[in-house]
Amino acid sequence: MRFVVIMDPISTVKVDFDTSFAFMEEAQKRGHQVDHCVNTDLYLDRSRLYARVSPATMQRDPRAPITLGPAEDVCLHDVDAIFVRTDPPFDSNYLWCTLMLDRVKHDTFVMNDPHGLRQANEKLYACYFPELMPETVVTSHKDRIRAFLKRIGGQAVLKPLGGMGGEGVMVLKEGDPNINAIIEATTDNGRRLAMVQVFLPEVKIGDKRILLLEGEPVGALLRVPQNEEVRSNMRVGGTAVKVGVDDADRRIIATLAPRLRQDGLWFVGIDVIGGHLTEVNVTSPTGLQAMSRLDGKSYVSTVIDWVERRVRGAGK
Ligand SMILES: Nc1ncnc2c1ncn2[C@@H]1O[C@H](COP(=O)(O)OP(=O)(O)O)[C@@H](O)[C@H]1O
Ligand SMILES: [Mg+2]
Repeated sequence: MRFVVIMDPISTVKVDFDTSFAFMEEAQKRGHQVDHCVNTDLYLDRSRLYARVSPATMQRDPRAPITLGPAEDVCLHDVDAIFVRTDPPFDSNYLWCTLMLDRVKHDTFVMNDPHGLRQANEKLYACYFPELMPETVVTSHKDRIRAFLKRIGGQAVLKPLGGMGGEGVMVLKEGDPNINAIIEATTDNGRRLAMVQVFLPEVKIGDKRILLLEGEPVGALLRVPQNEEVRSNMRVGGTAVKVGVDDADRRIIATLAPRLRQDGLWFVGIDVIGGHLTEVNVTSPTGLQAMSRLDGKSYVSTVIDWVERRVRGAGK
């Protein structure tokens, strides 16, 4: 099979951390051809979608995990699967990439569905399920944020809608002399929406990442924040701890699954803190490698097996 992976430049790849790298390495092991490109390498010519790609070779070498061969043009209608794995921000190039991919998805399997990627801002998507979420308001208005903080007892988390990896996530505490400055910075003085949410003290125990494939759990891990930090993301020093998927998680997953399938959000990562859903990561969810190491299982095989079945099912 031939897989095209649309992602960030290969210089960003972390060999033991990236889920995209794990997908590419596993595909290579199975003898598939794997091509790399960035989202601005797509091009449309007479309504056919193409990309300028480079064949990728993967090796477990932290200095050069991926080496690229000479670039070539490929018609994306003729390949077997396309993985969209670009990290946020969701900028104009990202949006245009999903609009271009809409044209090819009936010929070639795209993970995740470009329509679903447009539907699902990682923070806002969870708001479709208010019964699963901690109390939350999305606004750019300082007065509304301050009123919410008062209403919920004086401690909240303020997050930019487009962030990832814990970027810009701040704790708001009534009485903090920096409170106005924090709100102004996050909302760009009232010009940008932000999410303000009840602070969940259970975050000290950890933020559970569960990876879902077609609405079913693949595996989970608990990210525990270091020292006084509230952000548990591994990018900011959170440590990964072995954890299972419990009945409460299964209830959350069962509620989300029909909508995820409807939106073509085949591979997503949900974040659960103290039994509450806080985020649905759809653009480039990660954690697969750490999860596999903790559980002594090859979760990447689960995903690539599934992709191969989708491709075969499509009759390619
Ligand atoms: N409501 C909350 N209460 C306590 N901590 C939170 C809350 N929301 C987020 N956090 C902390 O901030 C981290 C990042 O938040 P999250 O919403 O997952 O955004 P992202 O991972 O995209 O940056 C979480 O892993 C968690 O440690
Ligand atoms: Mg998160």
